[in-house]
Amino acid sequence: MKKIVKKIVTAVAVALIPSWGGAAAIASVAPATIEARIDSLLSQMTLREKVGQLNQLNTADFDTLGTAVAQGRVGSIINEVNPEVVNALQRKAVEESRLGIPLVFARDVIHGFNTVFPIPLGQAATWNPSLVEEAARIAAVEASATGIRWTFSPMLDVSRDARWGRIAESAGEDPLLNERMGLAMIRGYQTDNLADPTAMAACAKHFAGYGYSEAGKDYNTTWLPLPLLEDVVLPPFEAAAKAGAATFMTSFNDINGVPSSGNKWLMRDVLRERWGFDGVLISDWNAITEMINHGVAADKKEATLLAAAAGVDIDMEGHSYPDVLEALVAEGRLDEAVIDGLVRNVLRLKFRLGLFENPYVDTSRPSPAFAPAHLAAATRAAEEGTVLLKNTGLLPFGKGVKKIAVVGPMADAPHDQCGTWAPDIRRERSVTPLAALRKLYGDRNVLYAPGLRYTRDRSCEGIAAAVKAAGDADAVLCFVGEEAVMSGEAHSMADLDLKGAQTELIEAVAATGKPVVLVVMAGRPLTIGRERDMADAVLYSFHGGTMAGEALARIISGKANPSGKLPVTMARMTGQYPMYYAHKNTGRPPEWTVELDSIPVEAPQTSTGCTSYYLDAGKEPLYPFGYGLSYTTFEISEPRLSASVMPMSGATFTVECTVTNTGKCAGAETVQFYVRDVVGSLARPVKELKDFAKVWLEPGESRVVSFTLAPSQLAFHGLDGKPVLEPGEFMVWTAGSSAEGTPVSFNLVENKLL
Ligand code: BGC
Repeated sequence: MKKIVKKIVTAVAVALIPSWGGAAAIASVAPATIEARIDSLLSQMTLREKVGQLNQLNTADFDTLGTAVAQGRVGSIINEVNPEVVNALQRKAVEESRLGIPLVFARDVIHGFNTVFPIPLGQAATWNPSLVEEAARIAAVEASATGIRWTFSPMLDVSRDARWGRIAESAGEDPLLNERMGLAMIRGYQTDNLADPTAMAACAKHFAGYGYSEAGKDYNTTWLPLPLLEDVVLPPFEAAAKAGAATFMTSFNDINGVPSSGNKWLMRDVLRERWGFDGVLISDWNAITEMINHGVAADKKEATLLAAAAGVDIDMEGHSYPDVLEALVAEGRLDEAVIDGLVRNVLRLKFRLGLFENPYVDTSRPSPAFAPAHLAAATRAAEEGTVLLKNTGLLPFGKGVKKIAVVGPMADAPHDQCGTWAPDIRRERSVTPLAALRKLYGDRNVLYAPGLRYTRDRSCEGIAAAVKAAGDADAVLCFVGEEAVMSGEAHSMADLDLKGAQTELIEAVAATGKPVVLVVMAGRPLTIGRERDMADAVLYSFHGGTMAGEALARIISGKANPSGKLPVTMARMTGQYPMYYAHKNTGRPPEWTVELDSIPVEAPQTSTGCTSYYLDAGKEPLYPFGYGLSYTTFEISEPRLSASVMPMSGATFTVECTVTNTGKCAGAETVQFYVRDVVGSLARPVKELKDFAKVWLEPGESRVVSFTLAPSQLAFHGLDGKPVLEPGEFMVWTAGSSAEGTPVSFNLVENKLL
């Protein structure tokens, strides 16, 4: 076998973002100039005008909104996407309001605007930050063409419970993966010059802890001890603040009884003081007023006082700030200087966005929506975000597969394949698997019989036709999953099995004896163990967006080689969640388990082993975090450490491994670098991801992948929330998933002992 060994060093990749013609180059205004201009404006503003800047309203009928804007009572608008209306409202602000302060227009541009990319969970499955950055850049180009200059993305909520519908919007269960994907999105949205008319302000949300909503039920309470907050929940947010995310959003949940929109410690001490954030902090939708429902404020005035004290700059469509802030100042309960501080942050954002110089959207520019380069990038993202979970050799289809039965409710679901938060799609632009397969294999060779009309359909009437199609074909492609509306905000699920009669459909087509590929298109990991066992191959594609069908057809036919890896643990049964690879070992980690059905009647209580597992689900997930197959195979060597002893206050340390493509086709492997702190003053996770590198390799090609590790990456937080670095043994893995690899150890030692 030919051996080519190249050396690559992981470093933040600099993505080559194409330049987008048409946008005038705008220089950013110097910070000192901005502060001076803010001072000047503030000195001229009435209290009412100041409050206006803190008021974000949903778009509404033009006359009502336009009048409020002209009176200086509105600072920003969410959800207006008609550029003519954007400009007309902006004219009201710039030309008719007393001080001419421009509006900023915001929207949830979460995973693409017109061209929809995979849901963020699917983008995370690419393990390719450059591609995610490119997706965000394209989203910004398309959205800014309608006047949107602020997106409420990225969501940085580490999500370890797939019942929570918003796991779809996250990068999954790991803090580092959330951080890397979040930073890539921020770079893509903001570029290095927010004043560029194609740049959008990013928003790190939901600050904080929202992913820990108890029992995966949306908006639910959270209990977060300081070590969990500091080690898992906050790091992606800290990285976002330090990377210059222009805005942050409070979360809906309370943490230990304190709703985020009134959490002074989190918003002022941590975000502003510790991390030095000088951007805008916006409440989530109506979240200030909802502190009344939480039961920490008796009325709007109390809620508003809490939020202002916590430093929440903008009230999103909550009508608390505009309704009561002025009265609170008049009553002497709130110092106007506090309001000045909030307004200062809002004006700073508007200056940074260049809105004072360039308030209007250029409607003469040709629409960039669905540009060929955007569709090509969306195809690549959907390809790389698809995870091959099982393959007995059926995929990619070879020459023997001429006639294909295409069944299942997701085979031709142009709306649903785009997933949650895709309000600006045009469903006729979605390329469904059915359309792409027909194009690739010819209409006559694709026998389409969906079997079910939609994923929750319980009627089995259509299944006979699907069975007939399967019988007439060489192989069956069965597209199942979840409709878009089944994940996302306020769409939690208590049971993650396939809904409707999808399992019956799979059973029926598998019973024909024809080889079956199961393709799952969903907003979260579903519990598909039974269905996996009935299939010869399984592709998990999340909701892949506009080009999902094209990407899947390319993978199925072998034009593309899948390289996705799970950004989240897939459980066997819903009751295993929260389930994540970085769990603690417990005092009784199981070495063996007993299955419920194998327990003899009247078995002694202790005969099943008194260890930490489920009798009906065992100890393992269905698939672990980081897992994903390819059409080729890879070998990753054990880690090679630059030393076996690391001084606590020393320089960085190098961990290398060699990855080889041992199969017959080109492909990409994601090398994952995990560490375990063997003994700590607090129990430490059994593994933690410290870095990763996605490597493309020709057959037979090898590369050396090199990671660096600094002592600070081995620190954790104690019960008091303070960081500690402790000497001792650490184990290191370099592997293709969180469940593979052979570890090598090193010792972290105090310098004086060296
Ligand atoms: C969501 C946010 C979103 C906001 C604006 C809220 O309900 O929680 O994520 O940005 O609405 O649409």
